[in-house]
Amino acid sequence: MYFHQGAFTLVSLLLVSQVQAQSNNQNLTVGFSANDPKGLVEFSTSEIPVTKTCFNLADIFASNASSNHSYTVANTQNYTSQANYTSLFYQQLNESINGDGSGIGTGKDAARVVEVLPGENCREIDGLAWFGFSCQDAEGERYVIPGGVKSFSIQSKAESANKGKCWVHAEYGSGASTVFKGCFAAMMAAAFSGLLLTM
Ligand SMILES: *[C@@H]1O[C@H](CO)[C@@H](O)[C@H](O)[C@H]1NC(C)=O
Ligand SMILES: *[C@@H]1O[C@H](CO)[C@@H](O)[C@H](O)[C@H]1NC(C)=O
Ligand SMILES: *[C@@H]1O[C@H](CO)[C@@H](O)[C@H](O)[C@H]1NC(C)=O
Ligand SMILES: *[C@@H]1O[C@H](CO)[C@@H](O)[C@H](O)[C@H]1NC(C)=O
Ligand SMILES: *[C@@H]1O[C@H](CO)[C@@H](O)[C@H](O)[C@H]1NC(C)=O
Ligand SMILES: *[C@@H]1O[C@H](CO)[C@@H](O)[C@H](O)[C@H]1NC(C)=O
Repeated sequence: MYFHQGAFTLVSLLLVSQVQAQSNNQNLTVGFSANDPKGLVEFSTSEIPVTKTCFNLADIFASNASSNHSYTVANTQNYTSQANYTSLFYQQLNESINGDGSGIGTGKDAARVVEVLPGENCREIDGLAWFGFSCQDAEGERYVIPGGVKSFSIQSKAESANKGKCWVHAEYGSGASTVFKGCFAAMMAAAFSGLLLTM
């Protein structure tokens, strides 16, 4: 009885995660907040730009924003240029190709490289780190960006100079404390999802 229930729950769990994996598109979603998570502003795009494309928070979350790129924004009424956006939400998943979901999974290579920067127009600022993300994360996760975020760039990972790496919160720039953080986090994420798979 117990076993049956357990098996049933496991099967439903597997079904649910499969349905989620398939209905989840390959959008990239990034969200930004200051100290108050209720102030989260969000950006979502289905584009995979071939060349590195930069977005300023002040531009995309302005009420009169216009752009040649396809994206949606949410909670723009919460955006304020005075806030120091030190918290990042990152979510990105591959889509299944002809029903083949083998390329889908948290910790696997994503389709895009995302870099978040402390300066406008994707500029570095002396003494502050910038961060890179290029692994999939189905559920999305929050990361602390100590220097705050003013802009971020998106580029197809296949076209990127950093296509060989799978970045999870990888820290770079003159303010970086270590460049090995990203590799370690990616390894942990991979180990963790491997653990889930074998469970
Ligand atoms: C975000 O916007 C909602 C709706 O306008 C508002 O109720 C809430 O107080 C705002 N939060 C912050 C932190 O500004
Ligand atoms: C994906 O992004 C596009 C904009 O590029 C948007 O129209 C669409 O609603 C997004 N889908 C989801 C599920 O967020
Ligand atoms: C939006 O409005 C602000 C202030 O009214 C202006 O400074 C800015 O240039 C406008 N942006 C666009 C993209 O039209
Ligand atoms: C969109 O592209 C056109 C033509 O390349 C350019 O003139 C225009 O300034 C662009 N608009 C924005 C908001 O970047
Ligand atoms: C995810 O999709 C991109 C292309 O959109 C591809 O380059 C990458 O290898 C895929 N990831 C995996 C793990 O298959
Ligand atoms: C945001 O806060 C961090 C840490 O307190 C600081 O280093 C950074 O300069 C601030 N950024 C802005 C734009 O105020």
